[in-house]
Amino acid sequence: MASAARSFTRALRTPAASSLKRSATFVPRTTFAQQARRGYADAAGAKKGGNGLLIGGLVAALAGGAGFYYMNGAEQVKAAGVFTPKQEDYQKVYDKIAQLLVEHDNYDDGSYGPVLVRLAWHASGTYDAETKTGGSNGATMRFPPEGDHGANAGLHAARDFLDPVKKEFPWITYSDLWTLAGVAAIQEMQGPKIPWRPGRIDRDVSYCTPDGRLPDASKEQKHLRAIFNRMGFNDQEIVALSGAHALGRCHTDRSGFSGPWTFSPTTLTNDYYKLLMEEKWAYKKWDGPKQFEDVSTKSLMMLPTDMALIKDKSFKSYVEKYAKDNDAFFKDFSNVVMKLFELGVPFETEERMTFKPSE
Ligand code: HEM
Repeated sequence: MASAARSFTRALRTPAASSLKRSATFVPRTTFAQQARRGYADAAGAKKGGNGLLIGGLVAALAGGAGFYYMNGAEQVKAAGVFTPKQEDYQKVYDKIAQLLVEHDNYDDGSYGPVLVRLAWHASGTYDAETKTGGSNGATMRFPPEGDHGANAGLHAARDFLDPVKKEFPWITYSDLWTLAGVAAIQEMQGPKIPWRPGRIDRDVSYCTPDGRLPDASKEQKHLRAIFNRMGFNDQEIVALSGAHALGRCHTDRSGFSGPWTFSPTTLTNDYYKLLMEEKWAYKKWDGPKQFEDVSTKSLMMLPTDMALIKDKSFKSYVEKYAKDNDAFFKDFSNVVMKLFELGVPFETEERMTFKPSE
């Protein structure tokens, strides 16, 4: 209980984190179909721009006015992807996301950070190592079949949040942007640095993954292993990844579950493991799906899949380790999130970059 008390104090010291009350001002829901169409339109527009350059350039040269069309075309080529961005360009994208996180602090517990992490995870966690399908390459959640999967409910908020970033930096693919936003969100919520590399391409609707590839929170260890082993993760990695539930909350209008896992849902810490180990958890008495609440304050929650991590002996050994050692958690979390965000991507570069967090 001593260290749980410490996390209370920490939560109070962190202004955004301390407001567990839902001051949620939910962004208006754009229909997913619109979102998808927007994705298509961007891609098609960019391509058209590229061809337009060639044809436009020739016509203009013949007419003796090549200069103007050339200049105009150079920008179009940049938008079409011929522009080769460098680390400093990706850092600018990172900085923009960090700036928007600060500006839009009236969402949920004071940050879009958690829902951005969930977007990057759900984009990546569809990977099937055997068929090499799914994963963070493609950003196919833009399209209705995948965007409408029950597990993805509510993620339009994260995609809409990133729209102005995509408009300002049209050269970045949605799939690179979503994973970069996941990295930015983790780092800006005081998490470890996550090395990242670009190279994901956006794919069309035919690459949407079938429903059922993401975990079902009402299940237990057997299901967790089946889902995560399919992606290529072992027990230790499953437990390290689950520490992301220090962040954010469940929403009854999304998953049906309710409440946050920790007292500081906008700051990444190892509190998720500490609370799992130190608190008493009991079934919540309510009409909703089976979930657990902490006996002492009844304000926190655990999913059946979270509780499975302390029921299972092998999982529990890692929960104990991370509960005792935040540095060990941060080190393993950084490695496993890097791996998660790279699932299914045929990278051309071995080199990764790390981003400078905001001051
Ligand atoms: C182990 C299996 C997992 C299950 C069953 C699961 C299930 C869930 C559920 C039901 C929610 C609530 C969604 C809502 O109602 O808004 C949620 C939220 C969340 N999950 Fe997981 N999750 C799992 C693993 C992960 C992983 C691997 C990550 C990231 C590495 C992650 C990050 C998050 C975050 C940050 C939220 C909060 C989102 C918000 O506040 O809007 N989860 N998860």
